Amino acid sequence: MCGIVGYSGGQSAIAPLLEGLRRLEYRGYDSAGIALGTASKLFVEKRAGKLSNLEAELKGSLPSAHSGIGHTRWATHGGPTDKNAHPHLDNEGKLAVIHNGIIENYTQLRAELEHRGHSFSSDTDTESVAHLLSELRKKHGGDLAAAMREAVTLLRGSFTLLAIHADAPQTIVGVRRNSPLVVGIGKGENFMASDVAAFIDYTKRAIELGQDEVVTITPEKVSITDLNGIAVVPKEYEITWDASAAEKGGFNHFMLKEIFEQPKAVADTLLGRLSPSNQIVLDELRLSTEEIKALKKIVLLACGTAYHAGMLAKYAIEKWAKISVEVELASEFRYRDPLIDSSTLVIAISQSGETMDTLMALRHAKAAGARILAVCNTNSSTIPRESDAVLYTHAGPEIAVASTKAFLTQVIAVYVIGLYLAQVRGIMGNDQVKELFNEMSALPSKIEQVLETVEPLRKLTRGFAQSTSVLFLGRHVGFPVALEGALKLKELAYMHAEGFAGGELKHGPIALIEPGTPVIAILPTGHDHGLDEKMLSNIQEVKARGARVIVIADEGVEVTGAEHIIRIPTTPALFQPILATVPLQVFAYEMAVTRGNDVDQPRNLAKSVTVE
Ligand code: M6R
Repeated sequence: MCGIVGYSGGQSAIAPLLEGLRRLEYRGYDSAGIALGTASKLFVEKRAGKLSNLEAELKGSLPSAHSGIGHTRWATHGGPTDKNAHPHLDNEGKLAVIHNGIIENYTQLRAELEHRGHSFSSDTDTESVAHLLSELRKKHGGDLAAAMREAVTLLRGSFTLLAIHADAPQTIVGVRRNSPLVVGIGKGENFMASDVAAFIDYTKRAIELGQDEVVTITPEKVSITDLNGIAVVPKEYEITWDASAAEKGGFNHFMLKEIFEQPKAVADTLLGRLSPSNQIVLDELRLSTEEIKALKKIVLLACGTAYHAGMLAKYAIEKWAKISVEVELASEFRYRDPLIDSSTLVIAISQSGETMDTLMALRHAKAAGARILAVCNTNSSTIPRESDAVLYTHAGPEIAVASTKAFLTQVIAVYVIGLYLAQVRGIMGNDQVKELFNEMSALPSKIEQVLETVEPLRKLTRGFAQSTSVLFLGRHVGFPVALEGALKLKELAYMHAEGFAGGELKHGPIALIEPGTPVIAILPTGHDHGLDEKMLSNIQEVKARGARVIVIADEGVEVTGAEHIIRIPTTPALFQPILATVPLQVFAYEMAVTRGNDVDQPRNLAKSVTVE
């Protein structure tokens, strides 16, 4: 939450700062601001609302500056107003600070600083840091990095901070604790940002920063120290995707582009995972055969859409690998004394790799002795870095706040883990693994087939735009799909939407059905346990009470009671969610478009949730 960018180089700073903020706007879009490194006094502009408000304000003559910092905000402390927008300044207007995260002890800091004569002009936790740094910089003879090192020892909470001072405007100092910050190394220019996307147009060389590392950039130099001022050897890496991946590529919205990228994302995530001798290749797991056989339990930790991927993993891993699987909302996990030890494999699923709830749950599990595997889409983010092992999904950058391609690749990744565990534990033979893997490999072209129905699906959706509430029904793996369909609709269309297990209807939710209520039902694949027939009965039950029923069903399966049928290609039951989710994404997308909502940046949300 909150996007941060810093620039110091030879060109005018305004372009890299605004371009960077545009790329980071997915992280928060309540307000935006910049401070330009102009001598004697900083030039600062900030505005409530989206980045475009700030850009409009900046039209016209700007002072010449070759350095600066920029911020796009997701409000925590203090409403989304001009005065609470970042940067925040010291009383001389010479030092500016931007911040992502929360300073937990800001009330006490503010009281102390006010007592010492500082006057505050915002309601934020961040402003305390500006005043604190101002004092400490004087104490350290104008050394901003030394001031930052001491300031950090006085702060509690999670933060990425960038600071600039008018007396040395080409020097920008940053620090991170439990919040992301990466450095971009250019030629005669250097960058800092929450995410490499901010500077991908300028350089592909990046440095990851560790906890409590303080970094200083000037046009010529990047220096990193720990809090004691001891130099840290930079860990440089190459960014493997290019700027076009972070552009809309002809689509009206990132979300629609990302929906259409799903066949490739799934194929890329499967690439190289089956050896010619039909062994699942998963060297990343870094567990010996003995360790895998000794595992007593798997615990999946995730939030939101990633949690739904975790729910699906339970069905697959328990069936294939015959090992008990628990799925936990990461935000709840550590508050109930979970029973985990060294015989537990914890799998933390996160697109961003920065979700604070998941990170804290992971740390709790690690402290209890569990081995941690991250399933993540973002290279070198915090969750993989703090895990024992990482399996990267290959969805490419996901910019839209609503997760689409990341979800499908998360499901694929956890299914690959399931097959691997089944094979290593000797539960499944190579032929069976190969057969299932081949079915998974056929999914990209089946998703393509679903995508061919996008336009009729959009038309169908528009017919339901006046509804106030939509219910989703699923059974078995269709249940997490129902939950995911409802989550997408809530976050994009701002409609009441709920997902239910079909069998639960009669235990309460059926009371929600009124004449005309849309119900989207996912018909299970095959006749296992007669679940398809049970769902058909559920459809009749809601229809009898006036619901308008849309059914998602495999090709060729007879469906009764539906007003509309959305056909998807047939695939084994466990893989059906990969196909059945796609029409639900399109439904939510089109509903948001029809209602005039901001599809890529829905209200109140942010892509990367870095606060608890
Ligand atoms: O980055 P993560 O996968 O850890 O994010 C978890 C959730 O915040 C995320 O999936 C959220 O629910 C999505 N916006 C849903 O579309």
